[in-house]
Amino acid sequence: MLERSRVACELAVEAGALIRKGAGSRSKVEYKSAVDPVTDFDRRAQALIVGGIRSAFPDDAIVAEEGDDHGRTEGSCWVIDPIDGTANFVHGLPHFAVSIAWMDGGRPMAAAVYDPSKDDLFHAERGGGAFLGSERLAVSAVAELGRALLVTGFPYDRRDHVDFYLRYFREFLLSAQDVRRYGSASLDLCYVAAGRFDGFWEWKLHPWDTAAGWLILEEAGGRVSDFDGAPYDAWLPRILATNGLVHDQAIEVLARLAAAAAMP
Ligand code: IPD
Ligand code: CA
Ligand code: CA
Repeated sequence: MLERSRVACELAVEAGALIRKGAGSRSKVEYKSAVDPVTDFDRRAQALIVGGIRSAFPDDAIVAEEGDDHGRTEGSCWVIDPIDGTANFVHGLPHFAVSIAWMDGGRPMAAAVYDPSKDDLFHAERGGGAFLGSERLAVSAVAELGRALLVTGFPYDRRDHVDFYLRYFREFLLSAQDVRRYGSASLDLCYVAAGRFDGFWEWKLHPWDTAAGWLILEEAGGRVSDFDGAPYDAWLPRILATNGLVHDQAIEVLARLAAAAAMP
């Protein structure tokens, strides 16, 4: 196992144990916008992870959600979401995760996503497969969009552009088997990797939401791209992630939507 992969897994589990204690406490919740909460636990978990990385790899760059430097980095770089699913966390809904990726050359090379409520550690190393604990992950075999269970989320500017985002939800409700909204993008991606969902799309996510899940899904045999099928980039505002088999069918739906209205 890569040294950075081991560190990602250890820090994700350690930070997960910390945030598990705070779930549902509703203590010290602040709002970055009307619908975007942040808690003391986000900051404490991030400090723990950043401290661990700095002592092990002092020369690596760090992009962390609650930090100041969110710029694109091509070199050796860690991308951290201390709590992905903070709204769930604040409400005591046991579905949130710590997401840590190590990237090099703009691509994730090692990844850990830890759900402390279920003690689920999803992890991957480029070229080494994806795992839930010690169990190897593989995407589903669903090949028809009409039989696919999809998952999505709504970005934090949803109140300003609600009709635009709902058009996407509507089209996929009409063309897939069904659509879920679980509230943690990193776990959404891991659940596609585990074959529980067949696909995921979302607008305006950030590198800390997607970088780790991106690698875990690709290593489980899935496909991750921009809405038009172009290669994914974690700093892009669109992600389409599927089991691979329904990817082109999803792109067709997204192309119809893009033709009807541009991103606000
Ligand atoms: C959020 C979650 C959610 C997604 C939001 C993200 P946060 O992350 O991943 O599923 O729909 O767009 O911002 O704010 O809980 O770290
Ligand atoms: Ca997040
Ligand atoms: Ca977060």
